[in-house]
Formats: sequence, structure tokens, C-alpha cells
Amino acid sequence: MNTSKYPLISDQISRPALEVVLTELEAVLARGTAGAICEFGCYIGTTSLFIRRLIGDQKEFHAYDSFEGLPAKDAHDQSAAGIDFRAGELAVSKKQFLEQFRKANLRSPITHKAWFDDLTAQDVPDKIAFAFLDGDFYGSILTSLRLVWPRLSDGGSIAVDDYRRETLPGVERAITDFMQGKAYRLRYAHNIAIITKA
Ligand SMILES: C[S@@+](CC[C@H](N)C(=O)[O-])C[C@H]1O[C@@H](n2cnc3c(N)ncnc32)[C@H](O)[C@@H]1O
Repeated sequence: MNTSKYPLISDQISRPALEVVLTELEAVLARGTAGAICEFGCYIGTTSLFIRRLIGDQKEFHAYDSFEGLPAKDAHDQSAAGIDFRAGELAVSKKQFLEQFRKANLRSPITHKAWFDDLTAQDVPDKIAFAFLDGDFYGSILTSLRLVWPRLSDGGSIAVDDYRRETLPGVERAITDFMQGKAYRLRYAHNIAIITKA
């Protein structure tokens, strides 16, 4: 998908990375994959707006965030290069997030204000066609994978931001730990990992 027609409303994703995410989502839709679209870690909605532009009304779209910014790091996230990512950074309100959709004249997603660890099966769609995981830290990515993987439809994909990014080592560690022993494929470009069932 060519994204140049619309602005990026934050610096939380680059255009090449966004295009990797959207190209994968397009492929999932083209395969007619069953299930909803989810984003874990939506922040102000930079990627969420493009997801909505792409899917229109054809799929249910759920967005999740604490809307209180990042949680605390754990030992897996420690990196000399990543001292900037502190608890409470990236806090925007749910109202600010929803406002972006109003301004863009787009339908807002079903929006969940919660820490990922507090989400239960009732908060997540039964079937997921595509999920974008962008929670930055080990625990956030691990929890997102625990919620999404068992619900991922055949033909579905999970895109994870910040894969192999020096500043956020917990992302790759969470993927490696969670996917151990599971049948999956992983490829990546522009720090976006694409995980599919093998
Ligand atoms: C990098 S930003 C997301 C950027 C967004 N996906 C985009 O492309 O513009 C990370 C977001 O994840 C949220 N987050 C990280 N860990 C979380 C957790 N454990 N529970 C809830 N929200 C979390 C933060 O509040 C923050 O808004």
C-alpha cells in the first residue's frame, strides 16, 4: 500500500515499516482469512488510521493500549542503547486516540483501555486474522503473543514492530521464548517481524 497520500501523525513508525505491516495485512485480506484485526499498543493511532483506511468496514478492528504509556521494563529489556524508554513515556489518552479518527473522518476501532496483563479471553476476538504487536517490551510482547497465537486463523499473520532493534532487545527475546516448540515461520524487514503458522 502506498502511504504517501496521508501523514504519519507520530514518529512511532517509519514509512517503510508501516508499508511492511500494511502489505502483509493486504495479503491476509486477499487470502480471505477469517477473523478480526487487532493492534496491541496503538498509542496515538499512527498505524491504526492506516489499518482502518485499508480494511474499511470489512473487518472488526480492536485497538488496545494502557493509555498511560509504557509499563516498567524488566531484565530482558535492559540495553545501554535504550535508556530513553521509561515507564510512563508515550502516554496519550483514549480520547486523544479517538479524536484522530474523528479528524480523519474514519470509523474508530473498538478501543480497549487496559494493561495487556489484565486482558482476559472476553476482551479478545475468538478469531484473529491479523495482529500488529507494538508494545516495545518483553512482557508486553509476550502477553500479546499469548493472547493472539491461539486465536490466529489459518492464513493469518502477526506483525511485530522493533524486531532486532538494539534499543528494544526484549521484543526479539519474547518472540524467541514464546515461539519455542511451535510450528511457525518468521521473516522480517525494516524491524517488522512477520510470524505465520508453518
Ligand atoms: C510504540 S507505541 C505504539 C505505536 C503505534 N503502534 C503506532 O504504530 O503508532 C507503544 C504503545 O504500547 C503501549 N503499551 C506498551 N506495553 C503495554 C502494556 N503492557 N499494556 C498496555 N499498553 C502497553 C504504550 O502505552 C504505547 O502507547
